[in-house]
Amino acid sequence: MSANDTLVTDPPAAAVRAEEVSMVFPAPDGAELRALADVSLDLPPGAFCGLVGPSGCGKSTFLMLIAGLYRPTTGRITIDEEQVVRPWDALGVVFQRDALLEWRTVWDNVLLPIEVKRLDKKKYRDRATRLLELVGLTGFEGFYPGELSGGMRQRVAICRSLIHEPRLLLMDEPFAAVDALTREKLNFDLLRLTAESQTGRGTTVVFVTHSIEEAVLLSDQILVMSPRPGKILRLIGNDLPKPRTLATRSEPRFHALVDDIRSAFHSMGLV
Ligand SMILES: Nc1ncnc2c1ncn2[C@@H]1O[C@H](COP(=O)(O)OP(=O)(O)O)[C@@H](O)[C@H]1O
Ligand SMILES: [Mg+2]
Repeated sequence: MSANDTLVTDPPAAAVRAEEVSMVFPAPDGAELRALADVSLDLPPGAFCGLVGPSGCGKSTFLMLIAGLYRPTTGRITIDEEQVVRPWDALGVVFQRDALLEWRTVWDNVLLPIEVKRLDKKKYRDRATRLLELVGLTGFEGFYPGELSGGMRQRVAICRSLIHEPRLLLMDEPFAAVDALTREKLNFDLLRLTAESQTGRGTTVVFVTHSIEEAVLLSDQILVMSPRPGKILRLIGNDLPKPRTLATRSEPRFHALVDDIRSAFHSMGLV
């Protein structure tokens, strides 16, 4: 990507804070189900935060809270110091299932957020072309989701989540349903797509994953959560140099960080 062909745009990435956020759901038997307890987080603009923790510990709930789709029971969440009280506009989301619309082509799926937000489609055509190029989908613009592999579908979903220049990207186990090799490829696609974040512009990312290796490869900060009610067990600053490449995975420091997190899981009796 050359300097004048960059995906960086004017809106800066968002700063995200969670201040002692707790979430209690009503349980079916009338009791209370405590999903999150006193979770705090301080993400500077452009940071990539990896969130790992056992199943059911409240990771998805935390993303829903940041997205403004749930309100916390106690505590508060702010984006750029403004309290989140409704879904935020400059937000991109990618879930485990890609949620592409089967009756729309790749191109029309990518541009869907522009239509929904009633923005000028013409202005986003070049960006759509560039995003698809960056993930190796040039030539597939006219294909329908049913004609694509799982990995290709997920790449379309990532392009769609980034088309409207989100300042914050929330990803909930986005690569859980694809095979290991494709997943590795998607990891590097994502790093390339959010690379501008290193300059404090581009996109802040909160990324939920089951894979410790994936969290270490991608993140600047790694949050390790305890079993429900989810608390922050460890907050690990990831000092691995950037850009992260295939070679990153062979660095001793990479393995030290993975072991560190694995032992945190071990201490919870989860490995
Ligand atoms: N809308 C909801 N209503 C009631 N309980 C919920 C709701 N969403 C999640 N939970 C419960 O909160 C806990 C955390 O769920 P979740 O955030 O999905 O965990 P994770 O994503 O870490 O697997 C679970 O026990 C789940 O059953
Ligand atoms: Mg979940």
